[in-house]
Amino acid sequence: MMKMKTAKNAPYPVEVIKGQAYYWCTCGLSENQPFCDSSHQRTDMTPLEFIATETMTVYFCGCKQSANAPLCDGTHFSL
Ligand code: FES
Repeated sequence: MMKMKTAKNAPYPVEVIKGQAYYWCTCGLSENQPFCDSSHQRTDMTPLEFIATETMTVYFCGCKQSANAPLCDGTHFSL
């Protein structure tokens, strides 16, 4: 199994829209971080769906180590 690649050692702030689906890159290979660009197709990983419950700014994990994926939980501070 392929290991996740850290995209950035910090979260990505994104303004999300209530009810809209977002596909967070789990493999770290996407050129469109923090979202999927189908680069995972050369791995055994798949993107993680996130459906916004409110219109607001959320912080998508960039280090790919968050226990609360796809959102940042501060894990990147300990890497
Ligand atoms: S960027 Fe991954 S836990 Fe913060």
